[in-house]
Amino acid sequence: MITVAICGCGSRGLFAYASLSRIYPEKMKVVAGADIRPERLQMLQEMYGVPADMCFASDVDLLAQPKLADAMIISTQDRQHVGEAIRALELGYDLICEKPISPELSECLRLQDKVHETGRHVVIGHVLRYTPFYQTVKEIITEGKLGTIRTIDATENVGYYHFAHSFVRGNWRSAEETSPMILAKCCHDMDYIRWLADSPCVSLASFGGLSTFSAEHAPAGAGRFCMADCPDEVRARCPYDAEKIYLTGVHGFDRTGDAWPQNVVVSEPTREKLVQALQDGPYGRCVYHCDNDVFDHQTVLMQFENGIKATFTTSAFSQNIYRTIKITGTEGELTGNLEEDQILLRRFGEADQLYDLSAKKSEFKGHGGGDAGLANAFVTLVEEGGEGLTSVDASVESHAMALAAHESALAKGRTILLKDYIEAHRN
Ligand SMILES: NC(=O)c1ccc[n+]([C@@H]2O[C@H](COP(=O)([O-])OP(=O)(O)OC[C@H]3O[C@@H](n4cnc5c(N)ncnc54)[C@H](O)[C@@H]3O)[C@@H](O)[C@H]2O)c1
Repeated sequence: MITVAICGCGSRGLFAYASLSRIYPEKMKVVAGADIRPERLQMLQEMYGVPADMCFASDVDLLAQPKLADAMIISTQDRQHVGEAIRALELGYDLICEKPISPELSECLRLQDKVHETGRHVVIGHVLRYTPFYQTVKEIITEGKLGTIRTIDATENVGYYHFAHSFVRGNWRSAEETSPMILAKCCHDMDYIRWLADSPCVSLASFGGLSTFSAEHAPAGAGRFCMADCPDEVRARCPYDAEKIYLTGVHGFDRTGDAWPQNVVVSEPTREKLVQALQDGPYGRCVYHCDNDVFDHQTVLMQFENGIKATFTTSAFSQNIYRTIKITGTEGELTGNLEEDQILLRRFGEADQLYDLSAKKSEFKGHGGGDAGLANAFVTLVEEGGEGLTSVDASVESHAMALAAHESALAKGRTILLKDYIEAHRN
């Protein structure tokens, strides 16, 4: 069993990797943590039995202590990770560090250097590699069932309500405050595409933009806060209406109770607390009148050293949240949908083969089983050593791909050579 401290007890800190300790108490025990919100420290005590004197009021306070656990989970916001991770490595912790490492490539490279210098185990939160779905795709490729791979086409469909919640009203709405959307949401996709291609990305180009969630697209007469001052006839036609999303719609409190995204709007949600928070709080705002700037759709074209070509498209505009993949090879093609947990393998001239993975993830809920899968693999890595499924080097490369894609899109699709791009950011 390994002991862990949690730096940042938000949604990810309390509910993602640490939940392994509740599924398998013999593998992981949470012994300390930090957050600037007292109510989150209270939850840390209640959920994981962490004693009050091991709960700290900030990252700085936690990292001023001597080493308190075998490992640390870094799950504060995007721009805080590198400083905390470097200090934690100096104290001798192994780390799970949330993605993105940092929105600045130079900072990612700084952490990479520190990891090599200290030799500690560091796993970045690229959870999709650890899902039965992508592991099976990888196995099919590695076993040669598709022949030589020629193309990979992947999509990430963010879901209209998820996009409005996280990328228009919420934490990831501003590239300056957190990260560009292609990094915040899609560095996972860059990571598994690079992993499946099994070759460095040589060059890429990208197009994207913020097409919809800005004042010029507001319906005539729209208010500033849906429930406080937007006319009923405008709200009736608006799928992004905060009352529908958080209270009455398919994912709202009346149907799903206090689950996500309600538990981001207020801690331990009740209907009354939500109604109050939506009157004039950030999540009650009109989606056309927020202070957001991140792209709501983007596409990336990539070329890998071994000749594989890949495309990736992400969009806010989907009913459900889901990812798809299509891979073509010289002997077959594969299509799959992560949320349906099904992969169809069609070897040319042979009978189709359907892989139904839905049974495999029943005990591991977050990210198709990836959250607990990553935590489980991390425990093995800390206890037994070895290579692990991923490395900081691979994670930094996928961050570079995402950041280069953002830069390319800002430059209207300019092609970027990855090697040069990375070197230009090395201090
Ligand atoms: N791996 C994934 O798939 C995945 C999914 C979602 C989010 N993330 C990433 O995980 C990180 C956390 O996301 P989240 O959704 O949990 O956000 P969150 O806002 O719920 O959690 C961040 C927590 O850090 C705390 N915090 C802020 N400043 C602090 C400080 N100085 N000291 C200690 N605590 C501090 C906040 O109070 C908050 O509780 C982000 O970087 C995000 O991009 C990763």
